[in-house]
Amino acid sequence: MKGNEMPNESRGTLPGIEPAFRGKVRDIYDLGDRLIIVASDRISAYDSVLPTPIPGKGMVLTLLSAAWANWLTGIPHHILETDVSAFPPPYNAFTRELGGRSMLVRKARRIDLECVVRGYLAGSGWKEYGESGAVCGIPLPKGLKMSDRLEEPIFTPSTKADSGHDRNITIEEAGEIAGPETVREVRRLSLDIYRKAREYAAAHGIIIADTKFEFGFIDGRVAVIDEVLTPDSSRFWLANEYLPGESPPSLDKQFVRDYLDAIGWDHNPPAPELEEDIVRKTSERYRMALKSLFPEINIERYL
Ligand SMILES: Nc1ncnc2c1ncn2[C@@H]1O[C@H](COP(=O)(O)OP(=O)(O)O)[C@@H](O)[C@H]1O
Ligand SMILES: [Mg+2]
Repeated sequence: MKGNEMPNESRGTLPGIEPAFRGKVRDIYDLGDRLIIVASDRISAYDSVLPTPIPGKGMVLTLLSAAWANWLTGIPHHILETDVSAFPPPYNAFTRELGGRSMLVRKARRIDLECVVRGYLAGSGWKEYGESGAVCGIPLPKGLKMSDRLEEPIFTPSTKADSGHDRNITIEEAGEIAGPETVREVRRLSLDIYRKAREYAAAHGIIIADTKFEFGFIDGRVAVIDEVLTPDSSRFWLANEYLPGESPPSLDKQFVRDYLDAIGWDHNPPAPELEEDIVRKTSERYRMALKSLFPEINIERYL
């Protein structure tokens, strides 16, 4: 994490209260057995937080996570409350700063795995397949094209590195980190959630190419924590932009990455400012994800 590059922004920050932890995107306030997780409008690319925020992004991430958690009936999750006026004091006083972008959750003992599910062949999965015909030790049919749909989604965990890059690992290696029984459980939950969500999203014109879940223990039970099926944790494609053999633009940082590539940034901090046009188009794409999947949610009421 490159904390000294955090942009200065007022929305999402609380006067006089410092978060216990500041991630690339989220600020976390520790209430003992609970946490308040605040999604800022910060955006990261190539492992750096950019100096320019994306208006509405934090709300999209929070509102989407909460909507999915609610939709996924029967799957244990960490969310207690998203209505800021029902947060414990002093946080309930900050409805303007926190509204729409924060949640009160139960603190979990985190399972240190990135639980990735792939339903399409993209990113590092496509790269690995090209080199070995397998992804994380799972052999796949021959002759698949880039972005092809996998009939059976696959569970391809990676390490959760606090610094540096996550590394794809086999189920056996995951078992060494978290214990084989826990890995069986997070695998089952990850595939179950992904299968249900992929079907729901398809009916709303969105392809969830792949996604990453985090899990933790709450009261001895494995529960979904962190963010759920958001553009930051998943590769979302618009169904009408999808063509096998090509790499469809994703519903998140596509414009940002393209812009940074075009101006030739070498990925060494500090990251450059984004142009207004890129910011607006990126903000629109994040909102499109929420609007397509849960049209009944009105983000405007928090803006
Ligand atoms: N219920 C929970 N209990 C404990 N830790 C959590 C919970 N939900 C999310 N987290 C952790 O909070 C952090 C979220 O901040 P974020 O900005 O997304 O961090 P990162 O830069 O690691 O992605 C992650 O480290 C995540 O594992
Ligand atoms: Mg995160």
